[in-house]
Amino acid sequence: MATSRSFSTSRSPISHLVTAWARSLEPYPPGKPIEEVERELGHPAIKLASNENPWGPSPLAVEAATRALQKASFYPDGGGYYLREKLAALHQLDMDRIILGAGSTELIELVARTCVAPGDDVVVSEKSFYIYDTATRSMGGRIIKAPMRELACDLEAIRAAVTAKTKIIYLANPNNPTGTMFTADALENLLDSLPAWILVVLDEAYYDYVPAPGYSRSLDQVREGRNLLVLRTFSKVHGLAGLRIGYGVGSEQLIEALNRVRSPFNASAVAQAAAMAALDDHEHLRLSVESNAREMEFLTRELDARGIRYTPSVANFVLIETGRDCNEDFRQLLHEGVIVRPMKLYDLPTSLRVTVGTHAENRTFLEALDRVSQLTMALETVSVKS
Ligand SMILES: Cc1ncc(COP(=O)(O)O)c(C=O)c1O
Repeated sequence: MATSRSFSTSRSPISHLVTAWARSLEPYPPGKPIEEVERELGHPAIKLASNENPWGPSPLAVEAATRALQKASFYPDGGGYYLREKLAALHQLDMDRIILGAGSTELIELVARTCVAPGDDVVVSEKSFYIYDTATRSMGGRIIKAPMRELACDLEAIRAAVTAKTKIIYLANPNNPTGTMFTADALENLLDSLPAWILVVLDEAYYDYVPAPGYSRSLDQVREGRNLLVLRTFSKVHGLAGLRIGYGVGSEQLIEALNRVRSPFNASAVAQAAAMAALDDHEHLRLSVESNAREMEFLTRELDARGIRYTPSVANFVLIETGRDCNEDFRQLLHEGVIVRPMKLYDLPTSLRVTVGTHAENRTFLEALDRVSQLTMALETVSVKS
């Protein structure tokens, strides 16, 4: 696989093709597929690394996707008419204010491709979703990271980081990887204080999980004419991460601009059909949200009992502080058949991000974590004695 290092030698003909900003990016290291981990270990493994829904997709969505597969020889509806119509009815908005994406990741990138030019600034919170950074820098934009307050996005610090060249602010609420949130009122204050030209991209990937009152009024804020693009995804609570489908809600003018840059068939027919059915499966949504809340409580209670620190989370994952090298913890947990996400990428070298799994998965994770902790302690004792 190509790495950024291979571009750094001026002898490579590729280095003349690739933009300076693309060369400055580090390729994202993909984890091994779970099947390969299981093959190497010789026993089953569990994946708690990407904040997917451990209860799977809605059966209605699977049925609809299977039906849509029969027509896979046709291109999808490039305008996503029926899904946008359904979302428009759900959110009581004109369908011209809605755009579909191959996951919200594509929409994060589409905003950067549409709005960011070399010399522009984009403001984010430090330790927030890394795609904001790569999307900005791949267009030659400069990323400015505002400090957090106790691992939560600090919207006053975000405001203070804005420059005359700032075009976009990306905010994840709840934030990945910390699981923390800010309130609708705090966002309102930020929007009031910003120059009108700055677009706030509000990434609400974990929207349905958040139980807190006062969490979000984002779609009302779009309706009120704020310069806001709200992103939602079917990858999390709807359990359709593998199909790549999400959507954005913003002003008609912004959506029209994004549609000029968008790839014409970006949302597959299978994904559109599954997403429509998922919206109808209220029972699956309720079960997923309730099970996550129950299991989050179980997981954090067990962490408390072990004296392991974590950041309280309103999403479907939790940031755990083990106090040990996260890459080493990751490797040892992998050896135990548990895949989690080490947080060095986010400058949290002793933290792991763990998705809330099913009850059985959470127990497996905790037992594996106990074995890894005991092994590390035993090794430390040996090295102190020798
Ligand atoms: C905050 C946030 N935004 C967006 C995404 C990407 O979601 P999608 O699968 O819709 O691209 C994630 C995925 O982990 C996320 O954590």
